[in-house]
Amino acid sequence: MQSGAPTEGTGAGAGSGAAVRKKPMRVLSGIQPTGRFHWGNYFGAIKQYIELQYENEGFYFIADLHALTTIRDAQQLRQNVRDAALDLLALGLDPTRATLFVQSHVPEVSELYWILMTGAPLGLLERCVAFKDKESRGIKADAGLFTYPVLMAADILAYDSECVPVGEDQNQHIEVCRDLARSFNAHYGDTFVMPSARILKDTAKVPGTDGQKMSKSYGNTLAMFEDAKELQKKIMRISTDSRPMEDAKDPDTDHLYQLFSLFGTEEQSEEIRAMYLRGGFGYGEIKKRLAAAAEGFLAPLRERRAALAQDPAIVDAALADGANRARRVAREVLSRVQKACGLSR
Ligand code: TYM
Repeated sequence: MQSGAPTEGTGAGAGSGAAVRKKPMRVLSGIQPTGRFHWGNYFGAIKQYIELQYENEGFYFIADLHALTTIRDAQQLRQNVRDAALDLLALGLDPTRATLFVQSHVPEVSELYWILMTGAPLGLLERCVAFKDKESRGIKADAGLFTYPVLMAADILAYDSECVPVGEDQNQHIEVCRDLARSFNAHYGDTFVMPSARILKDTAKVPGTDGQKMSKSYGNTLAMFEDAKELQKKIMRISTDSRPMEDAKDPDTDHLYQLFSLFGTEEQSEEIRAMYLRGGFGYGEIKKRLAAAAEGFLAPLRERRAALAQDPAIVDAALADGANRARRVAREVLSRVQKACGLSR
């Protein structure tokens, strides 16, 4: 069993990727259906899924088991999962190239989760910031929230994943996954493939409208499929500093500039950059240009989504086929793991 496979990413632990590869790289990532996808989800993660689907073997899933830690309304969760699948397809995920599935449709992952739990040190989970952050915001922690990174490790290891494209906030969880895999391999022999995070430098932490990391929990998101008028209003409300117009400003520490560079062409971004360095402009003008650039990008996606929504069978077929393909892989890995730790019949 090969382990420590390199990735071609820029993320922590990623290799240069220059080596000639005999078989396509196994790429996997998951996304929670806890609300509509925002610019951070797209530019940090989903865009990578789509770019990587052409040359690699992609497995992408909607993490409904993880979402159960926050959504306790059955109808809401079902709706969110469908919305998430439609969004991913409309954004460009191609189910004939990549495997798109729902996490809970592969029950093998839940068994692997338990096996990994038996070797997961409490101290390792206690150090995870996502858990600490929720706890500090008064969200009552249950065992699901606490052991969330172990389920994530099972998600990754169940498919012999080599490369995990994510935003920066997931890096610590991938480190936990690597720790668990390493200690299982050390104890039972080489069983798991060692995954690496793939994090893009420029979009590792997309800022929200208030300059903090864009996140549903901070209420500072700009959604990919937001209604055009609503989106424009939100863009015009992006927070800015109160320095005089004529002052020169540093684009690299300004979240409005960072948001503009997500959509603007290189030339447009350079032009705005020069305006910041020169001074003598109003933020309102940049916001209007951001709204126009974002709308140019998002309007065709909105149309594509509306067209796809007309035919729910497309989504059903993609998810059913994806679950079959994903289960085939996970079954094999689970059986290898069961054998390694003495559970096989
Ligand atoms: P989730 O659903 O919170 O986020 C999905 C993806 O979006 C990225 N992301 C961001 N990237 C840049 N800037 C931002 N502001 C931003 N906000 C979110 C996240 O880093 C993530 O890549 N635990 C995961 C889901 C998951 C998973 C996995 C991921 C479950 N199992 C296995 C990878 C592998 C989560 O809650 O992501």
